[in-house]
Amino acid sequence: MNRITCGNCVALLRKTKEPFADLIFADPPFNIGYKYDKYHDKVKKKNYIAWTKDWMTVCKKVLKPHGSFYIAIGDEYSANVKIIADELGLFMRNWIIWHYTFGQRTKKKFARSHTHIFYFVNDKDKFTFNDHAVRTPSDRQLIYNDRRANPAGKMPDDVWSHFPRICGTFRHRRNWHPCHMPESLLARIIRVSSDEGDWVLDPFSGSGTTAVVAAKLKKKYTGIELSGEYTRESRKRIQNCKNLPVEGEGPREWTDYMDRELKWLYHENNVPTGQLSVEEHKLALFTAKFNSIMANEENHFTPNEIMKRLIRLRKSGKLGPLHQKKVRTSKAKSS
Ligand SMILES: C[S@@+](CC[C@H](N)C(=O)[O-])C[C@H]1O[C@@H](n2cnc3c(N)ncnc32)[C@H](O)[C@@H]1O
Repeated sequence: MNRITCGNCVALLRKTKEPFADLIFADPPFNIGYKYDKYHDKVKKKNYIAWTKDWMTVCKKVLKPHGSFYIAIGDEYSANVKIIADELGLFMRNWIIWHYTFGQRTKKKFARSHTHIFYFVNDKDKFTFNDHAVRTPSDRQLIYNDRRANPAGKMPDDVWSHFPRICGTFRHRRNWHPCHMPESLLARIIRVSSDEGDWVLDPFSGSGTTAVVAAKLKKKYTGIELSGEYTRESRKRIQNCKNLPVEGEGPREWTDYMDRELKWLYHENNVPTGQLSVEEHKLALFTAKFNSIMANEENHFTPNEIMKRLIRLRKSGKLGPLHQKKVRTSKAKSS
């Protein structure tokens, strides 16, 4: 307990006699040719599916009766994961889409900008779900000041757009591992699906994100990682994370310069705040533009934060009206 073990998760978990995990988060290699230290991420489709069944089976075996099991997976094998989960008797609570704005560049198809995250439970009636720990302010609270608003906020949707992907230049990127999850995304999962003292397992620990967040949130954890190098580096990461906030959740200072840039972008974008607040994709796009203007991860703001800032500017009278789009009249057309 409370360590990252170097080894093969299938072999190690198969030896375990009793279920111990209250929560499992698994982010396996997606079989898309990523360059890992020890694992070869391009195997025959049928071998990958058979292996997926092996590791999901051992994970299910170590999951406690009221435990939760999250699996991150790409488009290619998401259907297989769902079918295997059904065969294993897991119950799906949500098929979450993690949407990010730094998609891959493509020319001959639409740019991919999401990962699937399955949320399964062992028992469809009894499981931990701490809704109060993950509620977010609603539009009724933030914008309309509506007295009918639930003061606890609203439940987030099953499309998660607020967690930026950790890209090449970001400060939080660990160069010794090719892909890792944002801590704030793991924090949402761990907060909602585990209680104090619960035990979190990550069979594909990678850079140790799950273990680090579990440690920060005072849960027990076990990580398993095939690569000796990743294991060593992630153990160091855990040692150095004491007393630090979850990355992406620490306090960030908002400056006058940011207000000016936000106002400029708002006018450039020419979409009213009322519309941004109801059309999530427009707000996500606006936020992505703002974050890219700010150019570093230190200033990576969430759509909620940006919306609050816009409302504050509007209320203080500093935002100013948007210019009206010119409507061409038939007279103007003929001239
Ligand atoms: C997608 S990465 C996980 C990244 C992790 N979620 C993070 O945030 O850092 C998958 C990891 O699984 C490891 N791996 C592959 N096969 C494994 C196995 N059989 N047992 C344990 N780890 C394995 C790879 O070395 C790689 O680091």
